Amino acid sequence: MAEAGAGLSGVIAGRSAIATVGKAGRGLRYRGYAIKELASGACFEEVAYLLIHGGLPAAAEFAAYRGRLRACRALPEAVRDIVQRLPDHAHPMDVLRTGCSALGAVAPVEEPAALVDAADTLLAQLPAVIGCWRRADAGDEAGSHAAHTLAQLGAGPATPAAERTLDVAMTLYAEHEFNASTFAARTAASTLTDFHSAVTAAIGTLRGPLHGGANEAALDLIRSFDDPDAAEAGVMRLLAEKRLIMGFGHRVYRGGDPRSPIIEACAERLVAEHGGGDLLAIARRIEAVMRREKGLFPNLDFYSAVVFHQLGIEQRLFTPVFVIARLAGWAAHVIEQIADNKIIRPVAEYVGPGDRPFVSLAER
Ligand code: COA
Repeated sequence: MAEAGAGLSGVIAGRSAIATVGKAGRGLRYRGYAIKELASGACFEEVAYLLIHGGLPAAAEFAAYRGRLRACRALPEAVRDIVQRLPDHAHPMDVLRTGCSALGAVAPVEEPAALVDAADTLLAQLPAVIGCWRRADAGDEAGSHAAHTLAQLGAGPATPAAERTLDVAMTLYAEHEFNASTFAARTAASTLTDFHSAVTAAIGTLRGPLHGGANEAALDLIRSFDDPDAAEAGVMRLLAEKRLIMGFGHRVYRGGDPRSPIIEACAERLVAEHGGGDLLAIARRIEAVMRREKGLFPNLDFYSAVVFHQLGIEQRLFTPVFVIARLAGWAAHVIEQIADNKIIRPVAEYVGPGDRPFVSLAER
């Protein structure tokens, strides 16, 4: 049997009709639609509907969907209680993971026919898990999902430009094929476990700095420098020490991440409207050094860090934004997995000790 590349690189681990990532001639598309067109023309609810329900909503379907998401935002009392007992110093990713798990305990979803409804409901509820933990989850029933998310995160000011920017960022984060967290969700779902268990597994997987946590680490890096020249010298030093530069590189994309120029343009627009160009100038110098020295390009997380900071989102809430958006993709994958399920169970190449006789405890 052929051995897979390290970290399963290059391995086709299943079939999916949800997204193409880095496919020659097609690029990144959600259900056939190019990411650039979705980011410029659609709002997050349209994209979530596309992913979860399989096609773009017509105008009446869209209005009904927005209404449904708004109507499902409230958390059950038992979940509010659990989330509010978590300490203020908890990592918000742990809060989301716990909140998701608690929602599954209060209203478990095990029937395949209930998955789409469960996905929409959880999509509506997740921002309030953070809001409830921050004790700030009331009074914004009317807005879009992006505006609601900004309010629950305590970001501000929530101007129309800020709302549209988060909408674009959430569209870019919504889906990305068989990345680690999505694969975790599919693996869990393939055992026919409940919906919230699959999403809880995905949240735990996204938490790591090599995956979703990179946007928080990227801001640390950018803010550690006073100006572009200091950034150039600092990144050269880090590279000489063979350190990873967070927000750069990608397992699938080798020539560039198509989401990066879109989010960078958002950062540029925010700077034009609200100032704060210093951080963007530092980020751009880091990008130039990484291209020159390593041939590496920024992934979505790098300029997202700048954008989220400009939107007034607390740094520790960056990865939770990723969760709130990516839930649409995870749910689509769980639904797809269950529709044609086979338990995911690969094999390992054994590299341990040869056969040896057992010696009882008394004789060891
Ligand atoms: N900084 C410095 N060097 C990097 C790098 C980075 N961000 N990303 C990759 N490299 C180097 C690797 O060390 C490797 O060097 P080597 O050949 O001398 O060992 C080379 O580039 C090839 O990278 P590779 O190990 O094949 O990448 P991967 O596919 O295993 O990992 C990532 C992909 C995303 C996990 C990796 O690029 C990374 O850790 N990036 C930083 C974290 C991040 O931004 N994650 C968000 C992903 S969307």
